[in-house]
Amino acid sequence: MAAKKPVVLYGASGFSGRLAAEYLREFGVPFIAAGRNKTKIQDVLSRVPGIETADYETVQVGSSVDELANLFSGAKVVCNTVGPFIYYGPAVVEAALKAGCHYVDISGEQAWHRQIAECWGEKFASKGLLVAPGTAFMSAPSDAAARVCMETANVDSLEILSMFDGMPTFGSTQTIFAVIQTEGCYLEQNRYKPWVRAKGYEVVVPGYMRTQLALSWGGFPHPVWYKNEPQIANVRSFGGLLNREIMEGVLATEKHFEETIRPLPKAEQERKLAEMANAVQTGTPPRENSRTQRTIDVVVGRGSTDYVQCAVFGTCCYRQTGLLQAYAAHALSLGAQKKVGFASPAAAFGHRELLKVLESFGLSKLKMIS
Ligand SMILES: NC(=O)c1ccc[n+]([C@@H]2O[C@H](COP(=O)([O-])OP(=O)(O)OC[C@H]3O[C@@H](n4cnc5c(N)ncnc54)[C@H](OP(=O)(O)O)[C@@H]3O)[C@@H](O)[C@H]2O)c1
Repeated sequence: MAAKKPVVLYGASGFSGRLAAEYLREFGVPFIAAGRNKTKIQDVLSRVPGIETADYETVQVGSSVDELANLFSGAKVVCNTVGPFIYYGPAVVEAALKAGCHYVDISGEQAWHRQIAECWGEKFASKGLLVAPGTAFMSAPSDAAARVCMETANVDSLEILSMFDGMPTFGSTQTIFAVIQTEGCYLEQNRYKPWVRAKGYEVVVPGYMRTQLALSWGGFPHPVWYKNEPQIANVRSFGGLLNREIMEGVLATEKHFEETIRPLPKAEQERKLAEMANAVQTGTPPRENSRTQRTIDVVVGRGSTDYVQCAVFGTCCYRQTGLLQAYAAHALSLGAQKKVGFASPAAAFGHRELLKVLESFGLSKLKMIS
């Protein structure tokens, strides 16, 4: 019988899943492409460039902890690309723990990061396993850039902005709407403070003459990642699309939610949010175009007597996500991770390493602004 492949890619039929498969092939990492529909996974992966030379098999799996743990057993790493993670994440992370696998995912939902840190961080640590959600465009490059700022200057406060050009997928749109119900927080003197709900922020972005409209969008993962970081006391993260019309639409939805949907029971809130997301995006967008779908992460660090700013100029946020997942799986299958338990991607895999891998594949480049 063939040995178990070291990596299970869960959600392989998705837009991000197929890109992770593409980069797993580039790193030469054997993987199991798993999900709820084997025929769809086979169909989607058959169109991934070069996939005929990848070492992979396709498996259909149910969504219970036991079914997932049974599939994960014997593997080393689970890459989870099935979201919204606040809905579908708990069974997958529990199954990874049960099967003794490291866990990485592509979530950007702060509420999910807090849940993982509080409920699973120590359990993974006690088994010598890593649990690193958010190993994705939003917010791993900005996490890496923030750590460059922290080593460059004497800063204790971070403001972080991540924005992208492009068309959110079905799963991303569902998630953008699902997080509206959650409480997004920033960090003030290492304590969580809730953002004012349904409020937009004008932001200045290097490389653009006009200001952009950003949202706190559920809070982003950084406040959770930096909560127990002794150098850092204050973190505010914002973000969104480099498209004012879409951002105005999201802000209007947030206001509508506060006025008419929040008073409803939780299940009804979730149903209405999913319905609104369905009205915006039901399909899968085309493959990204690196000349149009640009990304930017800006980090400003401030201390009492010091200041530093840098930006990561990039392209194709979903490709960055696929690459980061594949690199994480590659590093974990070699046993090269720097942490166990709950950790940010840059803490787990190295901030310079993540920036280098993104740059070496032509997807982004760090620039110091000051
Ligand atoms: N942080 C970031 O930078 C970042 C980047 C990209 C994506 N994301 C997040 O990652 C998630 C996926 O995004 P995507 O763009 O890949 O979306 P997508 O193209 O819609 O793919 C979603 C995947 O999840 C699977 N799935 C959905 N519901 C499921 C369920 N109940 N049980 C089992 N599998 C299920 C889908 O399976 P079927 O094909 O069978 O429907 C598909 O494989 C979203 O939450 C998105 O916000 C985050």
